[in-house]
Amino acid sequence: MRKIIIAGNWKMNKTFQETEEFLLELTDFLNEVELNNIEVTICPPALYLEMATDIAFESKFSIGSQNISVHEFGAFTGEISASMLKSMDVEYCIIGHSERRKYFNETNEMINTKLKILRRNKVIPIVCIGETLEEREMGVTKKIITHQLEEVFNDIEIDGNIVIAYEPIWAIGTGKTATPQQAQEIHKFIRKWLTDNYSERIAENLPVLYGGSAKPQNINDLLKQPDIDGGLIGGASLDIEKFSEMIDIAARN
Ligand code: 13P
Repeated sequence: MRKIIIAGNWKMNKTFQETEEFLLELTDFLNEVELNNIEVTICPPALYLEMATDIAFESKFSIGSQNISVHEFGAFTGEISASMLKSMDVEYCIIGHSERRKYFNETNEMINTKLKILRRNKVIPIVCIGETLEEREMGVTKKIITHQLEEVFNDIEIDGNIVIAYEPIWAIGTGKTATPQQAQEIHKFIRKWLTDNYSERIAENLPVLYGGSAKPQNINDLLKQPDIDGGLIGGASLDIEKFSEMIDIAARN
């Protein structure tokens, strides 16, 4: 049975003090719930990773980074490497997020390089893919998803420690969630691609998360879909009440 991952992508939000306060409250909350098959992960801004991994060490959640450099080490001012993450016990790293593609010109080829670097350093990648509104309306969503998968997974062996997040760009931060049926259709399609290009075993074991305006009001219906294995949550993960509620719903799903 695949585990369910409830991951918060905080993007560029929260101060150090707010982060600490949130993570301590999350620790208390998780001590009270039966998590069953659920993994909770927080991806705070990189500056707070050290403090966050310290708190997580004593708690029932893990920590992820929002990005890494396309280079392994060296003269790249301002960059953070995969080995740095590994040395601080950071478990996950988001790559290919649409905001990085859009605002920082990241290409599938760069994401493929990052994926290889993360694999070498044993940090679990959360690989984001998704179509724009225009692509959806043109009816080319599956074509776009296939293209992203082919380029991002080019020359990649999968041994289980990879997570994919389907994040339709038109649903990110817009309040417009994909319907559970729309999301399920693409999740199923991604799993079929994994079966065709890797194996049934890999497809069956790899968690595929949904991201895009996920919130307490819609997470239950999304998680009920057979191919949705959790959420990559932006806005609603910044609020401890909403995020805890989503964990609670997932634990009872
Ligand atoms: P929202 O949940 O704010 O739409 O963001 C989703 C996202 O981009 C997670 O990576």
